[in-house]
Amino acid sequence: MEANQREGRGAGCGKLILFGEHTVVYGTPSIVAGLPGGAEAVALRANSTTHLEIVGPEGSSPEGEQRTRVEEAFEAILGAFESQVDTELEVRVDVDIPVGVGLGSSAALSTAVARAIADFVDLDEATEDEVVDRAVAAGERVFHGNPSGIDQLAAMEGGLHFYQSAGRSEHAPIEVEPFRVGICLAGPPASTARMVSEVADLSGREPDLFRHLKLLVGDTVRAASGAMREGDFERVGELMNVNHGALVSLGVSTADLDFACHLARSNGAYGAKLTGAGGGGCAVALIGESDGGVLDAWRSEGFEVFDVKAGGPGNSRDEQ
Ligand code: PMV
Repeated sequence: MEANQREGRGAGCGKLILFGEHTVVYGTPSIVAGLPGGAEAVALRANSTTHLEIVGPEGSSPEGEQRTRVEEAFEAILGAFESQVDTELEVRVDVDIPVGVGLGSSAALSTAVARAIADFVDLDEATEDEVVDRAVAAGERVFHGNPSGIDQLAAMEGGLHFYQSAGRSEHAPIEVEPFRVGICLAGPPASTARMVSEVADLSGREPDLFRHLKLLVGDTVRAASGAMREGDFERVGELMNVNHGALVSLGVSTADLDFACHLARSNGAYGAKLTGAGGGGCAVALIGESDGGVLDAWRSEGFEVFDVKAGGPGNSRDEQ
């Protein structure tokens, strides 16, 4: 291919936090699954100045504050490449998961864009891994304020992981047969950075209570990881309910998210909780092989619903 026709490609997964959002920012463990959908990007030499084009689900495109954040994240991602990019670039990214609802659209976008640029620049493998890691973290800092790294892990690796970031980040795959979960889009999009900052305010006002909540979530996550490995979904579900209670205490749930969890539990789910930053966005329910009417109950309330599998091998779309 001619140099000026060169193109780079990259992809990143969406994610589903099954346990431990928010408290993970403070070093408490968490469990996250990659989602099969996500983002795909192409980087080309541009005829004009460097720019990013985003195509969201059903052809939508971010506007207003969301657009500004995406632009800032793009700048941050480019910054991580320093002088390795020696031309103007046109990057197009297709995001096929809803934006701002806790399913990891921002990390999927950052990962796809960073990988496409790295592929365009044609770095050696070791440098590429290091630069992409740094670039995605820079993008995530724009979207999240103080990212724990949980979304980045899922976006880059897929699969199902136990994740903790106390000082340095550690993660271990949880190897289980894929299991079925329902996702309910219960509320409007919310800003992760704002929700993270509200939790930080609460931790400042009530440090002792916050410490107890972290301990509670830590014990819940460790128990859930064991229960998943044993295939004890009754217990996993119950622990999801406990984690939701802690998130309510942290002030990040909403009436719609509580209602979606309640509907799921009363229609046969093993358990349910909000997923992601909250303040709107999604609830997740562990539904097993028979949905027990959970998905229909959500639909009949007018909620958008996704029926997905969590677990199984990593599905890093980098390998496509
Ligand atoms: O991007 P969201 O909505 O899935 O939230 C990410 C999870 C948080 O724990 C709230 C923030 C973080 O960086 O871990």
